[in-house]
Amino acid sequence: MPHPQSISKPSRRGVLKVLYGAIWLSLVGAVGLGLGAVLRLVSSGGGASQPQPVELGQPGGLAVGQARDQGPVALARDAGGYFALSLVCPHLGCRPAWHQKQDRFLCPCHGSGFALNGERLSGPAPKGLSHVALKVTGGKLVAFPGQPVDPATRLKA
Ligand code: FES
Repeated sequence: MPHPQSISKPSRRGVLKVLYGAIWLSLVGAVGLGLGAVLRLVSSGGGASQPQPVELGQPGGLAVGQARDQGPVALARDAGGYFALSLVCPHLGCRPAWHQKQDRFLCPCHGSGFALNGERLSGPAPKGLSHVALKVTGGKLVAFPGQPVDPATRLKA
């Protein structure tokens, strides 16, 4: 057992060195964690996952002036043909739904209304619903929620 007088008290300078060292290591660790998070975000393509295509079944069964919701999109038909709308409200991202009796899409969150062709009719939404790509693949309609198209685009099926 060491003699009590052989144990030296740490000097004030020594204590400050240890304290500064701990602070420095904490800062380096925090910067390292932040850089790691940024690198993970960049390597994952920005963190946003690409929406998956949505199969909408065979053409037909949808009269002119009607729409049918399916997941993140709606299949709609007017005199020009079929088209697909993204069901992500441009206000705050809720999911509008088609209401045939009211002849419009209605957002359940703050009441925005949208016409069959996606145009904004009422409510706080700053614009209409986005049109997205619609193709026939293997005899079935497939919507591509991640691919916006011109609102005048129609598919004749
Ligand atoms: S999120 Fe649709 S009206 Fe607010």
